Amino acid sequence: MAKKVLGLSFGRKNKNCDIMVKTALMECEKAGCEVKFMHVDSMDIKPCTGCISCVVGMTTGRGKGGCVLKDDFHILDEALMECDGLIVACPTYETSVTGRFKAVCDRIGPSHDITFRKATYDEGLAAGKPADQLPDPRSFKKRVGAFIAVGGAMVENWLEFMLPLMYEITFSMGTDVIDMQKYFGAMAYEHVLGNEKQMARTRKLGQNIAEALAAESDEERTKWRGDDEGMCPVCHLNMVNILPDHKTIECPVCGSYGTLDVDGNGEIHLHFTKEEQDRSRLRWGGKLEHSTEIKTQAVGPGQIPDLKERLKPYIGYAE
Ligand SMILES: Cc1cc2nc3c(=O)[nH]c(=O)nc-3n(C[C@H](O)[C@H](O)[C@H](O)COP(=O)(O)O)c2cc1C
Repeated sequence: MAKKVLGLSFGRKNKNCDIMVKTALMECEKAGCEVKFMHVDSMDIKPCTGCISCVVGMTTGRGKGGCVLKDDFHILDEALMECDGLIVACPTYETSVTGRFKAVCDRIGPSHDITFRKATYDEGLAAGKPADQLPDPRSFKKRVGAFIAVGGAMVENWLEFMLPLMYEITFSMGTDVIDMQKYFGAMAYEHVLGNEKQMARTRKLGQNIAEALAAESDEERTKWRGDDEGMCPVCHLNMVNILPDHKTIECPVCGSYGTLDVDGNGEIHLHFTKEEQDRSRLRWGGKLEHSTEIKTQAVGPGQIPDLKERLKPYIGYAE
């Protein structure tokens, strides 16, 4: 059966992001994939209200990870569930992803967290629940993804938070990112269609997704196909947090801890043990650690018996 590739653009209609995603999809189609494109900004997708009914439903066994908001998200959700490959392009706004991009990430997670959904699925199945009351089994499909970050500014550092934050769209569903393209200086061209170097890189990104989808082993499927290996072996990015002990470093995308050293040539090296790599929130181990901490440590209503009284001075204050 043909593999399905979904392309999402968060840019302006028929501008850079749209055309780059469609260019990558055309390569996937040439390789025999079924493709679908969505211009996300044309959809009515409301921001998450934080009600957490998606997670509470799963942890209490009453829900299957659905959202109570009524809008177009279900159309995007169905396309996400169907796809095997995901290509996402986003413009840079203020060095970061757009508001709509973030809204979509919040709506996908934690409701779609594969560790929450798997536990709910397995427990429901064991309890004899009918299929329509269980999380969608397509949630557990192994998917590959690629990012395209577009920025108008002439210097790369005005796209600084793009690729780290674009990972948010993969966190909960566990999509394995195999390639990324950073296009800066977009405003020096009327349109990316006049920038053959970037167009060629986008075609390569599409071919990389098709290649990953055709792989026979999991190792081959998840193989990194980007230009730069990056310093973090899991997310392939170079962002580093230095922790208060001034000895430990952290990859902020993965949440993995490590160490840093500088060799005789002044070159910086980051070290993450295999255990820490497996604790990455991009991997099952890191997601399970997170869902377990929520399940075991989050408290429900009733912990503060006089909460209503304590809230009174704040209700309506200075509004
Ligand atoms: C509100 C806003 C903020 C922007 N901030 C940045 C920025 O921080 N860095 C950058 O490189 N480009 C910035 N840009 C330029 C866009 O990233 C650029 O126009 C991009 O091509 C938009 O993608 P599109 O052509 O697919 O719509 C900004 C544009 C807007 C509208």
